Amino acid sequence: MHAYRRNIVITGGSGFIGSHVVRLFVNTYPDYRIINFDKLTYAGNPENLRDVENAPNYVFIQGDICDAAAVNAVFEEYTPDGLIHLAAESHVDRSIEGPEAFIQTNVLGTFTLLEAARKHWKDRTDVCFHHVSTDEVFGSLGDEGFFTESTPYDPQSPYSASKAASDHFVRAYFNTYRIPVVITNCSNNYGPNHFPEKLIPLAITRIQEKQPIPVYGKGENVRDWLYAPDHARAIDLVFHKGKRGESYNVGGFNEWSNIDLICLLCAIMDRKLGREPGESQQLITFVTDRPGHDHRYAIDAGRIKAELGWEPTVTFEEGLERTVDWYLANTAWTDHVRDGSYRDYIRRQYKEE
Ligand code: NAD
Ligand code: DAU
Repeated sequence: MHAYRRNIVITGGSGFIGSHVVRLFVNTYPDYRIINFDKLTYAGNPENLRDVENAPNYVFIQGDICDAAAVNAVFEEYTPDGLIHLAAESHVDRSIEGPEAFIQTNVLGTFTLLEAARKHWKDRTDVCFHHVSTDEVFGSLGDEGFFTESTPYDPQSPYSASKAASDHFVRAYFNTYRIPVVITNCSNNYGPNHFPEKLIPLAITRIQEKQPIPVYGKGENVRDWLYAPDHARAIDLVFHKGKRGESYNVGGFNEWSNIDLICLLCAIMDRKLGREPGESQQLITFVTDRPGHDHRYAIDAGRIKAELGWEPTVTFEEGLERTVDWYLANTAWTDHVRDGSYRDYIRRQYKEE
């Protein structure tokens, strides 16, 4: 049997960002065994990893991070040297509709993983628990300023509150038990495999199908967008070289108001679909705002750039082109993930028939 140099567990590897992280690690590190531990909720999809699923250094285990027995079994079987934790309930609007699942998975699930690490790693210092978190823990910015690693936590939604709680537990396990941890807090990602409940893939599928594009409020809220494979590169760097016990902000240096972003997307898609310029913009429909909608997120990614040499490699224009091309070429994926539960959710969320 092949002796792998390191065994790395990645939780949530079948989701959007997780699939980019798994692909990067499987391909970059043939001497690592990559164990993807994923429950396959509505957001997890084995199709996201078709191209690596037969790689010799890839293992998939279907399991729930809240299930201590299942998590401990992974530690016993594979003696992991590292864990990159992405499994989460990730959609803000779903957290507003039903916060409980977010507390279960994001808080109790993270706690369950930390407890397994504490039990199995004991005093090992050559291991790493990498917690993948969000800029939403910092709350909302006005028109000026940026989130830095020392910005006080001020979460506003049930989703961001659950992520903030999990970040605090991860830090507490470093301070109390000396488990080697790192945290990354990233801005909004986009790219292939993005579940079409989130703004960009929702808008792409709506434009393609000539359906209304729902824009909350006046579309003035601002997000900082990063191409997901660039986030995966940041995770790779921080996992290997980040200072233990510390956090790193990751962002795209790329702020867009929602309305400007949707107009850009409409223009790209009009061109690609051979429509008249301005045609798709007519689909924009302003709808009731998200309760407690954070006005602006903007990341100061100066630390990861200065200390680890990370920068985004894909411009927004290039990343959006690639993303639109991916969705246009993968309508079977979109049709598959938009199953009955998706349709029920969309009906409730947008009060559509
Ligand atoms: P996603 O919703 O696309 O995927 C989540 C994955 O976790 C799915 O594969 C799902 O099956 C799995 N999962 C959910 N509950 C689980 C459980 N109890 N046990 C095991 N697996 C479970 O999420 P994403 O957008 O890829 O986000 C991944 C991580 O990155 C999350 O922790 C999220 O908070 C964080 N993050 C996301 C963004 C973003 O823009 N999407 C930005 C910053 C940080
Ligand atoms: O900032 C990082 C976060 O980015 C991640 O932690 C979350 O997991 C991820 O989902 C994302 O959260 P947002 O709430 O910013 O993403 P979403 O795509 O849901 O919304 C982006 C913006 O678009 C936000 O201002 C709300 C708005 N929006 C969203 C939807 C779904 C609309 O105007 N209409 C919509 O239908």
